Amino acid sequence: MKLCILGGGGFRTPYVYQALLRDHGSPRIDEVALYDVDESRLHTMTAILTELATGFEDAPALAPTTDLHRAVEGSDFVFAALRVGGLEGRRCDEHVALDLGVLGQETTGPGGLAYAIRTVPVMVEAARVIRDLAPNAYVMNFTNPAGIITEAMQSVLGDRVLGICDTPSGLGRRVAGTLGLDHTRVQMDYVGLNHLGWMRRLLYDGRDVLPELLADDGKLAAMEEGHVFGVDWIRTLGVIPNEYLFYYYNNRDAVRTIVDSGKTRGDFLAESQASFYERAAQAGDSAADLWRTTVARRSASYMAEAKGGTQDAPAEVRERETDPAHQGYAGVALGVMAAISRNERQTMILNVRNSGTIAGLPADAVVEVPTMVDANGVHPLTTDQPDLHQIGLMAQVKAVERHTIAAALTGSKDEALKAFALHPLVDSVAVARDLVRGYVDRIPEVAAVLTR
Ligand code: G6P
Ligand code: MN
Repeated sequence: MKLCILGGGGFRTPYVYQALLRDHGSPRIDEVALYDVDESRLHTMTAILTELATGFEDAPALAPTTDLHRAVEGSDFVFAALRVGGLEGRRCDEHVALDLGVLGQETTGPGGLAYAIRTVPVMVEAARVIRDLAPNAYVMNFTNPAGIITEAMQSVLGDRVLGICDTPSGLGRRVAGTLGLDHTRVQMDYVGLNHLGWMRRLLYDGRDVLPELLADDGKLAAMEEGHVFGVDWIRTLGVIPNEYLFYYYNNRDAVRTIVDSGKTRGDFLAESQASFYERAAQAGDSAADLWRTTVARRSASYMAEAKGGTQDAPAEVRERETDPAHQGYAGVALGVMAAISRNERQTMILNVRNSGTIAGLPADAVVEVPTMVDANGVHPLTTDQPDLHQIGLMAQVKAVERHTIAAALTGSKDEALKAFALHPLVDSVAVARDLVRGYVDRIPEVAAVLTR
């Protein structure tokens, strides 16, 4: 089978390729098209992947290209993870908002909306190319903000595009691990939008083990979420929030900490990624090692501001994505491909069309919920309804997401203003106006979209 990776020159491509190398089921991916707009990154990444494939006799063939049509044509699966505007765009997403005293983050808050505005048109166009040249392909969208991008792409591809995030499965694994349970045997009851969800129960042999965790100070405190949210707040909520809810529940602290740290995540990554690609281009046979050390550093400083550290001095080293047994990022994608192509039925938390699963949201809204995946596609599982707080926040953010998509597709600054002004983390219409102006001034790819 052919897999096309949109954004194939990107830093996380080796996760996917490593997972493919170790996958021996049938049918399997034997051809990987790597599409990227940056030829030199594509070259560097191809060299790293080739190095990783050493010793694997049946390594999937690599076809790097800057030609989107050629990359997509005849694909069975498309994996999309790209960053329109690059890391300089991410820095502006953060800084324009922080300069106005509101959250500057790549997916949550106004920064995520600016990121979406420039990304939606590109991904909708990619969706059209996929519809025409790979009509049977399933699209696994990792491109952030994943919920918004997936919903926009669904207008072209329907249920053949699903959004993937590694945070719900990561949360499930951490809870299982903390309780000493085999994470492959637990089933999570989770509801939300992407980066805005809650784990409500964790079933093990049919029994909900979450109350056990909530009752245990030591275990809760040892978990990353205990650290980020505080044991008391988690217990008060009675559910475990997705780590991105830190930016809502602790908004002031988050803004202050990021501003005081002097370096945003985007600042840190712009430096470290530029130096990685430069050095990797010259590293020859050791480029894969360089990738591994860079990944470890990137993982260690992930969400540093939520854990009492800074990008340069993270408080705590956390095992994330680097453990091949976890395969966080790529594992979910591989699971989807196996379930669909081999009819290996699996339940997974994915971003899919609501279709009545959550009564308070439109049927065609994309939500992040447990689904059953098999050869017939992806089906959301019926679930208990969210409580008032959860549905309220989801509905508000969904409205914002829809104005964002409308702004991106029509170029309307009024729609953009509505999106920013209605966002729960933007506290004034005046600030929303400044945000629209600031993003148009600072990010050429946003200016190119918002023309009306
Ligand atoms: C998690 C999220 C992804 C996000 C990534 C950011 O894995 O689920 O959606 O892209 O973190 O990591 P970064 O290293 O880019 O800050
Ligand atoms: Mn995510």
